[in-house]
Amino acid sequence: MKRVLFVCLGNICRSPMAEAVFRDMLKKRGLEDKIEVDSAGTSSWHVGEPPHYGTVNKLKEYNISTEGIIARQLIKEDFDKFDYIVGMDESNVKNIRNLLQQPDHPKIFRFLDLTEYKKDVPDPYYTKDFQETYDLVKAGCEALLNKILEDMEEEGQIL
Ligand code: 4NP
Repeated sequence: MKRVLFVCLGNICRSPMAEAVFRDMLKKRGLEDKIEVDSAGTSSWHVGEPPHYGTVNKLKEYNISTEGIIARQLIKEDFDKFDYIVGMDESNVKNIRNLLQQPDHPKIFRFLDLTEYKKDVPDPYYTKDFQETYDLVKAGCEALLNKILEDMEEEGQIL
């Protein structure tokens, strides 16, 4: 079993989008009982809220549900619980390291560093471009799933 936590600032735009896209991929590949996924924000600003309507509407276009996803803040316990703690941008990664008091742990990394893009996921709360964010989130989720499956295979975890 592997556990993935996507983290952004508000936990209403980018990280819940990644959670929903990744959850959908796991479901389609029958991996739901092998890999768990969750998301959190570094801030407490939107705790208790569902994802932003821009995220919900963009995902609806792809028949991806955000059901049950509610914003929460990152907590210290998340460090032990999750195997991959994935920041959407460089400032998220910095804030995750500070909040979890883990200055240099390989399980904390920037999402798109797993892809050819090697950049931040633009924040559609400000850009309003949920399509651009969706396209990058999709690419990142595919790369992350491949990495996890490779890691599990290396560790002899039966799939
Ligand atoms: P997110 O986007 O980090 O992708 O959820 C944001 C959501 C809310 C705010 C900023 C970014 N805000 O300032 O409230």
